[in-house]
Amino acid sequence: MAEIEFKSVAKSFDKVGVIAGLDLRVQDGEFIVFVGPSGCGKSTALRMIAGLEETTAGDIQIGGRSVTGLAPSDRNVAMVFQSYALYPHMTVAGNIGFPLKMAGRPAAEIALRVKEAADVLDLGPYLGRRPAQLSGGQRQRVALGRAIVRHPDVFLFDEPLSNLDADLRVSMRGEIMRLRERIRATMIYVTHDQTEAMTMGDRIAVFAPLKDGHGRNLMQVGRPEELYERPANLFVARFLGSPKMNLIEVGEGEMLPFGTMDLGPRPDGHHGALLLGVRPEDIRIAGAGTPGLAGRIRLVEALGAEYYVHVETEAGELIVRVMDKRLRPVSGEAVALQPASTAFHLFDKATGSRVGG
Ligand SMILES: Nc1ncnc2c1ncn2[C@@H]1O[C@H](COP(=O)(O)OP(=O)(O)O)[C@@H](O)[C@H]1O
Ligand SMILES: [Mg+2]
Repeated sequence: MAEIEFKSVAKSFDKVGVIAGLDLRVQDGEFIVFVGPSGCGKSTALRMIAGLEETTAGDIQIGGRSVTGLAPSDRNVAMVFQSYALYPHMTVAGNIGFPLKMAGRPAAEIALRVKEAADVLDLGPYLGRRPAQLSGGQRQRVALGRAIVRHPDVFLFDEPLSNLDADLRVSMRGEIMRLRERIRATMIYVTHDQTEAMTMGDRIAVFAPLKDGHGRNLMQVGRPEELYERPANLFVARFLGSPKMNLIEVGEGEMLPFGTMDLGPRPDGHHGALLLGVRPEDIRIAGAGTPGLAGRIRLVEALGAEYYVHVETEAGELIVRVMDKRLRPVSGEAVALQPASTAFHLFDKATGSRVGG
């Protein structure tokens, strides 16, 4: 049992609030991703679980037991960092087995557990090598091995792939997900990369920085598709998805206009200023003069499999993802934009909260 629970957790450094009002339950065996921009308190949240930082207020429980005041070594938590400091003079086996050696485990047990960890990570053939004789990906796997060998209840990953080049990052992402299938433990993975969050997490917790030390960090928690399809606020709407969700200001009135089209009546009771959010893949480009939002193509980014088309309109510049390659959008062309589906989002302009369904 290694459920993790944050109960009204707050953290300040020198009286400056970094984390406030953090309530979150991570289920036993779950893989959850904490994602948010740099400086929003993700590492601090992890370090409080590991016992490397104290909480300023509130409580953290692991497996139903408060860990406040418990030493890091008594929490059965393993942390994997971005900078994996391997011992250069030790072999791979020595590096992986090091935490057990420090804990005074017998040599036979260490050998067994090192072999087991090496098998999980396909490091068997490299056990006799030194870190300098390994590739970057292999070194990162050794760092993972050093965590696995301890049989922790909880794995905490703090941006472990940020230092790797793009190809290696994708393959290590796969390795961590496979690791997750082979090892039963609760895993929290921190990243600022929304793609990593969307592809890896059972659930995602989106963090935002506090505003002048006030408010709360946690913007929304849920399955990746839930957050993508139904963001609870503007922060989540704009943070997840690439290119970002388009936002169009909607003034007063009864209906929701999209150029010359109406998207239907406003949700009941909301008469104030709204922002209409439309994802780039939910807009269709039609011929000039047809109903919709009139505009002119300013820039076409050809990505091979699709185009990102930047269209200047009276409502600002919108980005449209075109996946039908036969369309061949051309810069300078006059067009009309139409919603490609009913998937649009409404947010209260003043509060940023989602409005309606
Ligand atoms: N030991 C510390 N002393 C003072 N401020 C800190 C300390 N650790 C982190 N901070 C501050 O707390 C905020 C959150 O940091 P961090 O948790 O590292 O963010 P993230 O991991 O999301 O990038 C940042 O503004 C950072 O400068
Ligand atoms: Mg960090």
